[in-house]
Amino acid sequence: AYPNLAPRPPMGWNDWSYYMCRIDEKTVLDNARALVRTGLAGKGYRTVTVDDCWMSRARGSRGELVADPEKFPHGMAYLGRQLHRMGLKFGIYTDVGTLTCEKYPGSLGHFPQDAQQFARWKVDYVKADGCNVPVAPGRTKEETYRDVYGQMSRALRDTGRPMTFSVSAPAYFQYDGDSVWHRVIGWSAEVGNLWRGGRDVALQQHTPAAKWSSILYNFRYNAKLAALQKPGRWNDPDFLLAGDTGLTRAEIQSQMSLWAMMAAPLISSTDVARLSPQAREVLGNTKVIAVDQDALGVQGRLVRQDDGSAVLAKPLKNGDGAVALFNSGDTPRTLSVTAAAAGLPDAGSYRLHDLVTGRRTESDRTIVARDVPPHSTVLYRVTPH
Ligand code: GLA
Repeated sequence: AYPNLAPRPPMGWNDWSYYMCRIDEKTVLDNARALVRTGLAGKGYRTVTVDDCWMSRARGSRGELVADPEKFPHGMAYLGRQLHRMGLKFGIYTDVGTLTCEKYPGSLGHFPQDAQQFARWKVDYVKADGCNVPVAPGRTKEETYRDVYGQMSRALRDTGRPMTFSVSAPAYFQYDGDSVWHRVIGWSAEVGNLWRGGRDVALQQHTPAAKWSSILYNFRYNAKLAALQKPGRWNDPDFLLAGDTGLTRAEIQSQMSLWAMMAAPLISSTDVARLSPQAREVLGNTKVIAVDQDALGVQGRLVRQDDGSAVLAKPLKNGDGAVALFNSGDTPRTLSVTAAAAGLPDAGSYRLHDLVTGRRTESDRTIVARDVPPHSTVLYRVTPH
């Protein structure tokens, strides 16, 4: 298996859903500085990833990838140096096909060369997308993807530089039936550290309603994949949208809380310099981050779900449990779950710590969240007492 380079779910920032192809050195470094200045870097958001469109349209004379000289005038090694100076990590995007999703050069046929290039640039994290992968003659689509991701994975490992590997293969099998999709997730967990399973969250230009429904969609499919996760091998339901998105505080808080319950990578995609105080508070809630980053490394499982609600439960290293009660509907609801159903050890009573409001209460064997507002999630840390 690929080295275990992400014992905790990766955290950081990626330009894609906010900027798409409108990126350059200044934008990336401004966001990096803002991560440091806001304290988010200190809380773990350290991997700064440049997504698609950083390259020139053609490879160089030796077949190498070349940074777009207008967008990145000082080149990628310089960018990496600046990020490292700030105490951050450098992430980069490529694609295992002939072209990236935005039709820049892909790594197919250049795996060792590109991996060596990334290592020379002191890259720490590689996201390898799966657009434009031609199915090899006599092979199935799955065999083809497995082969190219395997090659990229070996090439990265052979550089000797530890580079966390984010695999997009499962996203290209999400409509091929659950058994194929789950099998692809299985081998993605062998060749990489994390993998995209489903759809892209909505882009900055989309409406708040579209953003919310993309969060709901990704929550729902990803929550069902808990059994396919192992410590150090993470399902990635895509970016956190907290920012100047038009989403409500309840909505960005729900995404953060649910992603933390699912031990998802916490990768913000926004203009960090323009984060509202609310969004900064949501992303920076260290108690919620601790649920995500908990040392047991377990994705919370879905205990209950109906049309308008979901309850997730996750065991934590110190013997506590985390329980999230999510009202996805449009009217307030009282939600509950028994301690037994949430997998908590039997005790006479339980201490509840609401990780968003900070309120501490006592509970009997039924954990209740009263009048949860629409689109809100109550997240408790629960201690048997
Ligand atoms: C795909 C990925 C996105 C982003 C774009 C870039 O859609 O899922 O996260 O990397 O490609 O083109």
